[in-house]
Amino acid sequence: MGTVVQVGLGERSYPILIKKGLMVEIGSDLKKRNIAKRWAVVSDDTVAGLYGEMLMKSLADAGVEAELITFPHGEENKHLQTIAGLASKLAQQGFDRKDGLIALGGGVTGDITGFLAAVYMRGIPFVQIPTTLLAQVDSSVGGKTGVDIPEGKNLVGCFYQPGVVYIDPAVLQTLPKEEILGGLAEVIKYGVIVDADFFDYLADKKDEILALDDEVIIKVVARCCEIKASVVEQDEREGGLRRILNFGHTIGHAVEAASGYRLIHGLAIAIGMRAVADLAVYSGLLSKEAALRIEKIIKDYGMPSAIPDGMDPDQIKGYLKTDKKTVGGKVFYVLPTEIGKVTITDNVRESDVDKVIAA
Ligand code: NAD
Ligand code: GLY
Repeated sequence: MGTVVQVGLGERSYPILIKKGLMVEIGSDLKKRNIAKRWAVVSDDTVAGLYGEMLMKSLADAGVEAELITFPHGEENKHLQTIAGLASKLAQQGFDRKDGLIALGGGVTGDITGFLAAVYMRGIPFVQIPTTLLAQVDSSVGGKTGVDIPEGKNLVGCFYQPGVVYIDPAVLQTLPKEEILGGLAEVIKYGVIVDADFFDYLADKKDEILALDDEVIIKVVARCCEIKASVVEQDEREGGLRRILNFGHTIGHAVEAASGYRLIHGLAIAIGMRAVADLAVYSGLLSKEAALRIEKIIKDYGMPSAIPDGMDPDQIKGYLKTDKKTVGGKVFYVLPTEIGKVTITDNVRESDVDKVIAA
């Protein structure tokens, strides 16, 4: 049975199933749920090569009709042309309103597939099988979907919830170490924003987590999904509370963009989390001791905690102003007030922002 976390959104509610080895059971579970007549499994070329056959066999063994369609991996392919190409493939293969999509992959695949499901024939069901840690703890849950345009990341998209999320931690074994660390930055984020006990657990269990110990990883992924589900249940469309999930993201995104996207998202977020912890100290909201604990956990996990040398502070500040979380020209920050609590404010001194970016 494994662990089940429920996302309660009325008629759009869905379960998140977490279990080692779940990949081979997905066919029989999906068959029972009777969500769609036929499925298109959408995956990037890398993940399709690693897990496509295993999933297609599980579906075929259970008598679930499915086709595998792929696109080239990488954020640079998360754009409207990929959506158009995949939609054409669906149409050519006769997929109709009774059919559904399965996202097999990381956050790029999940965002693309969710958006495609939302717009193909004005909306067909979809399910998520996240294969990166970041996707398992964050992007597969909560229904944000979309693609990038040259003017910015995720600027075209919509909220569209999946019918079920299947998480098999076994797939993390093939994930490069850097991608694991990127996902762990989002995991630490949950501890800082809402759960001090979880923060302590992450500090205690660092070695087991980095070694991908099954029992510990399942607990960690499940807790992150519970926290995300609870936030999304209260504020599905980011009218207020959901913005706390952007902790570390305002400065993080600016650093990510200034690196020309060479720094992966999660590691840029680690830098962003440390920067806003310092900003919270300068703003008189957080104790120096708590900020040092945030810095320490980031460093202990082996993530970068400072803006890499050679990056232009003015360029980072420029990106801050164009962030999509900017409202009415004001840059908002999610600032910790203690471990496990945050506040959202635009009331920070420009000189303090300069200080944390220069540091
Ligand atoms: P990704 O999907 O590009 O995956 C990273 C790399 O890992 C890819 O090259 C992929 O092919 C490879 N990969 C995936 N699973 C693997 C596995 N098990 N073994 C080996 N290789 C594997 O990136 P990501 O970090 O998963 O997601 C980042 C994306 O998620 C960004 O586009 C971001 O905007 C989006 N995101 C969305 C939300 C949301 O709420 N929708 C939240 C956070 C991030
Ligand atoms: N990753 C932020 C959110 O889903 O709201």
